[in-house]
Amino acid sequence: MRFYTPFFALTAASVIPSVIGHCLVVDTVGDAGRAHGYGLGVNFATPRDGTGTAFQKDVTVFGETTVGLAKGCGKTHMQADRYLPGQPGYDPAPDQPNTVKPMVEKMVTMGSIPMCSAGGYLNVTFHQINGDGAGPFTCMIDQTGMASKFTKITVKKQADGINGANAGALVKNLLIVNIPADVKCTGTFGSKKNVCMIRCQNPSANGPFGACIPFELKVTAPPPPPPPPVEEDAPADEETTDDAKMKRDLTDEQMDFIMGGEYFTPEQKARMRKSSPPKKFNKWKNRKNRKAHGN
Ligand SMILES: *[C@@H]1O[C@H](CO)[C@@H](O)[C@H](O)[C@H]1NC(C)=O
Repeated sequence: MRFYTPFFALTAASVIPSVIGHCLVVDTVGDAGRAHGYGLGVNFATPRDGTGTAFQKDVTVFGETTVGLAKGCGKTHMQADRYLPGQPGYDPAPDQPNTVKPMVEKMVTMGSIPMCSAGGYLNVTFHQINGDGAGPFTCMIDQTGMASKFTKITVKKQADGINGANAGALVKNLLIVNIPADVKCTGTFGSKKNVCMIRCQNPSANGPFGACIPFELKVTAPPPPPPPPVEEDAPADEETTDDAKMKRDLTDEQMDFIMGGEYFTPEQKARMRKSSPPKKFNKWKNRKNRKAHGN
């Protein structure tokens, strides 16, 4: 029983708006590049050293609890319906809602799009603000990058928690998300092509909390095309072995030696020029040279 008591106490407390649970993605890095990113909507001007509403302004809350229904990238905390005027946490000057195109394009200009390989992974670091910003997280991917339709992907290293809650506060939780081996990323944002969108969310009753996280797929250049097949249309009676290809045409001197002053048709000469060097040619040439020098 001692084990369950704190958990129930926490769950009861979390329905009070001032302690609604929270987490946000403060760092992402992929297996295939050095660029670090973050979750959509995160505002680095928000202080991270407290647990109250002042520290929760840029937390994303999603409207859908299942992968099948998931659409879009949620709202930063101050847009969530529970923060109505007069309620704790209401901010008359809210952060921007999570609009995919301008937010990802801004991240591209900042160099904040991590790179992953197909079959690789994405490290996702959550800053857990208070108790129900915990795990486990469900992650999903939209290969168009637009967060319009998601399919579930697997999580290699999960964050601690039961139903999105634990006793953690102001801690960092690392999630390692598997990138499917057959992934195709087709999103284009500014100068970046091959962008996918991942969305991770916890099952917190007050959430789900989590983030949309864009990444760039590392595209390896396709291998060069194979060399064209060797033509095999030479007549069957001609030599096509490697030895034959290595042969050089006969020199004029060798041809003179073979012809011996006789007349041959151009066709005959052409054929002779392609044939093997005459065996006695060198002997003949040496004798000719000696004669020329008067020996
Ligand atoms: C991802 O996290 C794991 C576990 O901490 C670490 O070993 C690995 O180096 C990280 N990858 C990158 C690219 O930082």
